[in-house]
Amino acid sequence: MKVSQAIERVNKDYYMLQKDGTLLTQTTRPQAIADNLEMLDVQEGQKVLEIGTGSGYSTALLATLVGESGKVVSIDIDPKLTKRASEKLKDFEWVTCVTADGRFGYDNCAPYDRIIAWTTPDNFPNSWTNQIEEDGLIVTPFQVMDIVQSTVMVRFKKMDGSLSGDLVRPEGYIPMTSEPVVDFDRFGPESQADIVGEGEEPFWIGAHWMKDGQVKEEWKERFLKVKATSSPFREDGQAIRAYLLATHSEGYTFAFRPEDGDWIGYSTANGFALVSFRQPNRWIISDDEHTMVLEKWWVTWVGIGKPSYESIQPILMKDQVKLSLKGGE
Ligand SMILES: C[S@@+](CC[C@H](N)C(=O)[O-])C[C@H]1O[C@@H](n2cnc3c(N)ncnc32)[C@H](O)[C@@H]1O
Repeated sequence: MKVSQAIERVNKDYYMLQKDGTLLTQTTRPQAIADNLEMLDVQEGQKVLEIGTGSGYSTALLATLVGESGKVVSIDIDPKLTKRASEKLKDFEWVTCVTADGRFGYDNCAPYDRIIAWTTPDNFPNSWTNQIEEDGLIVTPFQVMDIVQSTVMVRFKKMDGSLSGDLVRPEGYIPMTSEPVVDFDRFGPESQADIVGEGEEPFWIGAHWMKDGQVKEEWKERFLKVKATSSPFREDGQAIRAYLLATHSEGYTFAFRPEDGDWIGYSTANGFALVSFRQPNRWIISDDEHTMVLEKWWVTWVGIGKPSYESIQPILMKDQVKLSLKGGE
């Protein structure tokens, strides 16, 4: 069955809405669920381990995809959620909801044909590698750089006993925790930024050079005051993100200003050149030196055919996932 057919069959409101009609906080955007289930390529009769039950909506889709000849084991760290989901999913007799920490997988029902996580592990769990079948697929979010907003969805296949990465998609999910989460606001992007302004909707910035905390007040003032002007590039920052994450360029920066949103590009302790992450295509630049570096990145990217997510692959390096350009460019 196709993911789109499963979506037609499952009533998402039944899972996502609470008794008072409000959306359950742990609910994932339906389009993101659909995209990530496409990556998982689930077949009828398979055994799937899901990590992060949440509302149980994705569990119901998985249960529909595998059918009654299959099996879905869904785990969540929050016992309230697994209890709620068990009740909602009682008609799917081939689904088991368990309260457990997804970082250990779930050995009792291993091995699995598919493992999918809707919450981001710090380190890639060894348990998943052990619990997945040969030729099985693992789909999980992972933060591929130590910089705010660098989480992507990655896919690995087990081949000859080890994991080989093939797919990357632009989606991110909350970090895995050891306890049920009460306050979801603490997972906003600013929680991972290197500098954060004051107020309810503060500016925030992430870059490696900022990690020692030595950001001058003039730098911040310039970043906040400089006016956005039309950029010379045809694409917005979203188009180049996958390439920048895969090339790990020094000075890679992601930032947010309350008045005009997300920015991506290059910075050092002396200045910055950043493009708007979404259209309209604008940039904020502090000086020629930084502008030239960003332009060079852009020209190189255009010159090799504007590689995006489909041109990069995840690589497991010990317990971390990094991205690289396919073909090793
Ligand atoms: C984005 S929500 C999942 C949404 C769900 N797929 C849906 O369709 O509604 C992420 C879930 O991961 C759970 N979680 C966080 N850390 C976890 C961990 N270490 N092990 C298992 N689940 C965890 C959270 O309790 C939360 O319910």
